[in-house]
Amino acid sequence: MAPLQILRYPDPRLRTRAQPVGEVTEEIRELVGDMFATMYAAPGVGLSASQVDVHKRIIVVDVSKERNDPHAFINPEIEIIGGTQLLEEGCLSIPGFYETVSRADRIHVRALDEHGEPFSLEAEGFLSVCIQHECDHLEGKLFVDYLSNLKRGRIRKKLAKQQREERVRR
Ligand code: NI
Repeated sequence: MAPLQILRYPDPRLRTRAQPVGEVTEEIRELVGDMFATMYAAPGVGLSASQVDVHKRIIVVDVSKERNDPHAFINPEIEIIGGTQLLEEGCLSIPGFYETVSRADRIHVRALDEHGEPFSLEAEGFLSVCIQHECDHLEGKLFVDYLSNLKRGRIRKKLAKQQREERVRR
């Protein structure tokens, strides 16, 4: 398992809509393993394949304190059950910025696991937010899209400038 490079906002590839996984092959399992390695190394609580420039419908999540509760969701489908919650979100593709986003609280998720077995789960609170955030990535959507144009513009400018400066230094 090897950590992969994470795309950073405003990289336009983050706007790609991911395609469904046809069959959960050894190659997909390898990708899932690399995604976990990337997420844990970052460190982060969730990662989508879109963020490592693989435009397939796969997300990985671990919201446990001990970092020992990995979940992979392949072709995830979210059904909103109800409630709303406000939580501060960050994103490995938008390093250094945290903003409060309003989302559904309770959700029902159906997906395939890394062995191709279907499963479903109900989530609420932080886990629910994390799954919704990662599934947004598969649609090319980022948490900054929930902010005002002004706020998003500021974040975009700062990150674009940072990346330009890094390129000059290299
Ligand atoms: Ni994210």
